[in-house]
Amino acid sequence: MHTSTWTSLLFLGLANLVPEASARPSSCPPPLKPGKALYMISNGARNSVIALPINSNGLLGQGTSTPTDGWGSNFVTITNNKKEAAGPDALASQAALTISGNYLFAVNPGSNTVTMFSIDPKNPLKLTMLGQPVPVLGDFPNTVAASAKNNIVCVGSSGAKSGIACAPFSARGIGKMDQLRPVGLKQTTPPVGPTLTVSQVFFSGDEETLFTTVKGDPTTNVTGTLGVFPVDQPCDTRDAATVSTDGKLTKVDGTVVLFGSSTIQNSTDIFVTDPAFGAAVLSVDAESGAASIKGKATIEGQKATCWVAISPDTNTAFVTDVSSNRIVEVSTTDASIKSVTDLSANGDPGLIDLRAAGSFIYALSPGNGTTLPAVTVMDARSKKQVQHFQIKGLGASKSTQGAAVLL
Ligand SMILES: *[C@@H]1O[C@H](CO)[C@@H](O)[C@H](O)[C@H]1NC(C)=O
Ligand SMILES: *[C@@H]1O[C@H](CO)[C@@H](O)[C@H](O)[C@H]1NC(C)=O
Ligand SMILES: *[C@@H]1O[C@H](CO)[C@@H](O)[C@H](O)[C@H]1NC(C)=O
Repeated sequence: MHTSTWTSLLFLGLANLVPEASARPSSCPPPLKPGKALYMISNGARNSVIALPINSNGLLGQGTSTPTDGWGSNFVTITNNKKEAAGPDALASQAALTISGNYLFAVNPGSNTVTMFSIDPKNPLKLTMLGQPVPVLGDFPNTVAASAKNNIVCVGSSGAKSGIACAPFSARGIGKMDQLRPVGLKQTTPPVGPTLTVSQVFFSGDEETLFTTVKGDPTTNVTGTLGVFPVDQPCDTRDAATVSTDGKLTKVDGTVVLFGSSTIQNSTDIFVTDPAFGAAVLSVDAESGAASIKGKATIEGQKATCWVAISPDTNTAFVTDVSSNRIVEVSTTDASIKSVTDLSANGDPGLIDLRAAGSFIYALSPGNGTTLPAVTVMDARSKKQVQHFQIKGLGASKSTQGAAVLL
């Protein structure tokens, strides 16, 4: 490059970049690669997957909606003998959909099935259904987990027939679900909640264990339950791995309404939310199924802390509350509270499912029927809102639930 070119570039204002670039100390880690797209389920009468593209700057763009060929549903609340369909938080769950590799799995709570799609890696908004929606054996499926290592998908159901069923999957679709693993619930369809329902199913970091969190009920002194089901590897490697039907259901002392959870990288501990007090780090022995509170975050002024995502950038947990529009950051080692970000200026009533990708947090507010559904994008380092993206159309409503990110 000629000197004159440099000179003209400098005059064009490039020189201004120099002090800014050196403002970041060289000890700071470089920003992580952002995700490619954010997905949720509309959970309307006709269920669909809503996909929003994530731009290279981490911000969301206009999306698409793809039918799941299934139906949504809502759990019911009973107040003064009056039944009402729940929403926001129509499903009382975390992970109503999940991603494994380039596959996406979404529950259909109103038609008791799960739908599998392949994601076009060149166009993450393009979803192709693989096979047909598969019956999950239970009623009101509200959470799903998938293991890429074992090619297994597991679905938690919270209705009259409740429990967890698993099936193998391949590029052709989902195979037959095996059987319902009971989780100690006696419910109706749709369930009366939010207590005494399945909160989430998820695999351990090494994908050798399937966990489930089940809500207790403070009015009857029922504590939260953690289900621990080992993945059985076959002796012959040509056979498929299966999730054991012989799991352990552990009452976790000190928890009440165990809700959305996350594995913690390089640790066998798990991070759980509990709307009775906030959040906790549990130490878990996958062999025996024993679990106990290692650190507890009592979140001041919280109403329903139910969802969590751990940022790969900060290695801290971010939790949301459906009745309070803020994001609380919690340590994944001792559950100490690191920061509280008040988002009330954007007008949303509260937040539910969220995911962390790159240096950003994507948190869903389904609105409340008058406030539009929206996703708040927050910078995980600065804890500042960088975008408030309202979802117009696409079947989004106060029943919308779930969050998954394609990395
Ligand atoms: C729950 O436990 C408390 C404290 O042990 C007790 O006072 C209360 O009666 C119990 N409630 C029910 C419904 O069992
Ligand atoms: C986990 O361990 C790997 C390998 O030792 C390391 O590169 C990574 O930074 C660790 N992650 C965390 C969150 O500690
Ligand atoms: C919806 O949420 C907004 C913002 O919090 C609030 O002003 C409004 O009263 C709520 N509407 C309903 C129907 O709850």
